[in-house]
Amino acid sequence: MKEAFLKKICCIGAGYVGGPTMAVIADKCENLKVTVVDIDKEKINRWNNNDFSKLPVFEPGLSSIIKRKRGKNLFFSNNIKKEIAEADIIFISVNTPTKKSGYGAGFASDLKWVESCTRTISDYASGHTIVVEKSTVPVKTAEVIETILGSNQGQNTGKTFSILSNPEFLAEGTAVKDLENPDRVLIGGKDDYSIECLAQIYENWVERKKIIKTNVWSSELSKLAANAFLAQRISSINAIGSICEVTGADVREVKLAIGYDRRIGNNFLETGPGFGGSCFKKDILNMIYLCKYFSLPEVAKYWEQVLNLNDWQIKRISKLVVDKLFGTVNAKKIAILGFSFKANTNDTRESSAIQITKELLAEGANIIINDPKVDEKQIAQDLGKNPIKEFENSFEEGSWSFSEDFKLIFQNSDAVIILTDWEIYKNLQWEKYTKLMRKPSWIFDSRSVVNPKEIKELGVKLWRIGDGTL
Ligand code: NAD
Ligand code: UGA
Repeated sequence: MKEAFLKKICCIGAGYVGGPTMAVIADKCENLKVTVVDIDKEKINRWNNNDFSKLPVFEPGLSSIIKRKRGKNLFFSNNIKKEIAEADIIFISVNTPTKKSGYGAGFASDLKWVESCTRTISDYASGHTIVVEKSTVPVKTAEVIETILGSNQGQNTGKTFSILSNPEFLAEGTAVKDLENPDRVLIGGKDDYSIECLAQIYENWVERKKIIKTNVWSSELSKLAANAFLAQRISSINAIGSICEVTGADVREVKLAIGYDRRIGNNFLETGPGFGGSCFKKDILNMIYLCKYFSLPEVAKYWEQVLNLNDWQIKRISKLVVDKLFGTVNAKKIAILGFSFKANTNDTRESSAIQITKELLAEGANIIINDPKVDEKQIAQDLGKNPIKEFENSFEEGSWSFSEDFKLIFQNSDAVIILTDWEIYKNLQWEKYTKLMRKPSWIFDSRSVVNPKEIKELGVKLWRIGDGTL
């Protein structure tokens, strides 16, 4: 009955979650027709591009699923109304960024995209439809969705709706792996039949014991809580790293020592240039807003400190680069390796590299940037400044350019700053390239990528995050 009922899935939002999630569902459920829709026509065109290197989202393993499934049971379409009308189950996977103005600005999530697509569902859905909140939302958002949909259901419209919360826990860079082998799938709802229908989709590849069923509010809150706990761990290790730097300890050794305690565990304890990505900051801000709204100021302050520490961590990188380079980087050539917020993704949202680069440009540095998956156009958009073409002949202070040529990147540079842990940087021929730098030459490694012994033997000065032994 359930399998027969569920034939067509529509996902609203073809972004970093909607695209990979639906690709994996289509891959695992041959009998389901899965269509991903978006208001962004250009994005849908890119998902339909036959050049698979042009897909809007880069994730290891994703393009081969798209190649296998697109046009069979996986589709990308602009025809939102038609796909909503035909769907048995609709996933809302639209963006929920922090509100920029009005009440709650700077903290609350902006739900205008959730509301707008809920209204479209209300207008165009037909028969019984299960509506699934996949986006990360404030607790109680399901109530908003239910109210909007409820106003248009009943005998005269022939429409009925059931609302579920099914937050997504994938991390970018490992999205396909995380979706294919999730730690858990969480489904929150009050209608057992709909919960079972959604659970049956996941049961095509996820063990039943990993599918957790809760009430809607627990489900919505668990998503915010998981991200808050993860971000808190990063701020904790970054805080410890800064103590290491001034005491002669090494954060990698401390990580090993504390990680052996099974209650702490050794995952998610990499120190770095502060967490980036589109979600940690906005979800904690959202949590802070909720705490204030429900008159829990001490709890709000507790989470606020996780963000404060992260802001400080990002800021201190550019400051220490300037300090080590005799207090000025004006007209000095600085190379930045890595612009995405983590390895294996082309996403730059909230990447620490954006702020660090902007601060160094403001100090007058001439910056040359490399990233294996982020292109020049995206970097220009993030920096709000166009690149210069002929880097070597330019005397314009505070300018930047992009290059894939490591010879050009290292040539005459005073410093190289590693901001993303791409594999390619780990395997770079450091001996060959550092010879091209101006002396005294510096490497600032914010991601524990280089081998310190090797770099020191090359006569290059090294700063490594959380390393007080240098
Ligand atoms: P995204 O910005 O990459 O994609 C959202 C898409 O929704 C955009 O393409 C946008 O055009 C589309 N959209 C907005 N309003 C629409 C409408 N009314 N009709 C049709 N399309 C519409 O965002 P994302 O990174 O995929 O995140 C989506 C949600 O998932 C957010 O709530 C986020 O917090 C959550 N999330 C993200 C991740 C992640 O790793 N990026 C992981 C877990 C959860
Ligand atoms: C994070 C969570 O890990 C996902 O579970 C969640 O679904 C997602 O947010 C979301 O809700 O959007 P994501 O931001 O894609 O995933 O990537 P992470 O691996 O969590 O990395 C986030 C940032 O923290 C990156 O800048 C990364 O470099 C940094 N990080 C991560 C560290 O500095 N140290 C670590 O040990 C781990």
